[in-house]
Amino acid sequence: MSNKNAERTYIMVKPDGVQRGLVGDIIGRFEKRGFKLIALKLVHATREHLEDHYGDLKGKPFFPGLINYMASGPVVAMVWEGLDAVKTGRSMLGATNPLASAPGTIRGDYALAVGRNICHGSDSVENAEKEIKLWFPEGIVQYSHDLAPWIF
Ligand code: PPS
Repeated sequence: MSNKNAERTYIMVKPDGVQRGLVGDIIGRFEKRGFKLIALKLVHATREHLEDHYGDLKGKPFFPGLINYMASGPVVAMVWEGLDAVKTGRSMLGATNPLASAPGTIRGDYALAVGRNICHGSDSVENAEKEIKLWFPEGIVQYSHDLAPWIF
C-alpha cells in the first residue's frame, strides 16, 4: 500500500524561472506548505534528455518550441515529498496556461504565457516516479526531518 504522507513529486523550475530569480520563492513555497525537499540540482539539460522528459508530446505542434525553450538555459530539478505531493504540487503551480492560473499560484503570480510558464510538476504518481528516475539516476539521499510524528 502506498504511503500518501511520503508521496513524491518531480518539480522543475524552467529556464525562465531561473533567469528571473524565482528559484528561492518557489522553493520557499514548497517548504512553507510543509513538503520535504529530498533532491535538488541545477542542470543545463541536453535536448535528448528533454525529448525523453517530454516524450509523450512528440507529435504536438509546440514540441520543437518547448524543447528550444527548455534547452535555452539551466533548470532547477527537485523532488519534494509529503502528503498528496503530486496533486498539491500541481495546484501550487497553477493551471498550465497562465491565463487560467489563479492568483496565489506560482504561474498565476509570475507568468503570462504557456510557452514561458516558469515551472513543471508531475501530473501523476506514475509519471513522478518516471521523471525522478530520469532526472536523478544517481538516486536520492535519505534523511529525517526529525519532526514530531503528528506533523506530516
Ligand atoms: S497537451 O496538449 O494537453 O498534452 O499539453 P498540456 O498538458 O497542456 O501541456 C503539456 C506540456 O507542454 C507545455 N506546453 C507548451 N509549451 C510551449 N508552448 C506551448 N504552446 C505549450 N503548450 C503546452 C506545457 O507547459 C506542459 O509542460 P509542463 O512542463 O508540464 O508545464
